[in-house]
Amino acid sequence: MQEMAAKQEDDLMLFFNNALKKMYWAEKNIERLLDQMHVEAFSINLKNTIEIHQLQTRRHIQRLEQVFKERELKPEGRFCEALKGLLNDAMVGFSDTVRKTRIRDVAISTCLLKITHYEMATYTMLIHMAQAIGWHAIVDLLHQNLAEEKEIVTELDRRPY
Ligand SMILES: [Fe+2]
Repeated sequence: MQEMAAKQEDDLMLFFNNALKKMYWAEKNIERLLDQMHVEAFSINLKNTIEIHQLQTRRHIQRLEQVFKERELKPEGRFCEALKGLLNDAMVGFSDTVRKTRIRDVAISTCLLKITHYEMATYTMLIHMAQAIGWHAIVDLLHQNLAEEKEIVTELDRRPY
């Protein structure tokens, strides 16, 4: 029975590591997408919201690098199918709308909200796994990222377009 518990914990650690790598890949790609969104956004309010998210995303990447350090792993990304779909969706949003219009801002905001919910879901589950294993320092780092993702949802709820 004890052996099984140890095996399960090993499997959970492996699953956590893979999920961490996917989130690292996601944050790096989100950073790039936000640069593009900032250029494409029309309203000053939306540009400001994106700027907040850009600053936060840089911190998210740094905190994830700290998590890798805590785990004694080299920071590396792993392809994430879900985020790739959301990135594609963002490109469709650009091609379906016209530059310098409010509709373009709606498309950007829609995509940003979907991405932020994806990030919240992933951080929530990473936190649950880290709690189960007892990695308190990692839980704290991930909580900080989750709290900032929630702030972005609040900003988008204010309809910045
Ligand atoms: Fe993030």
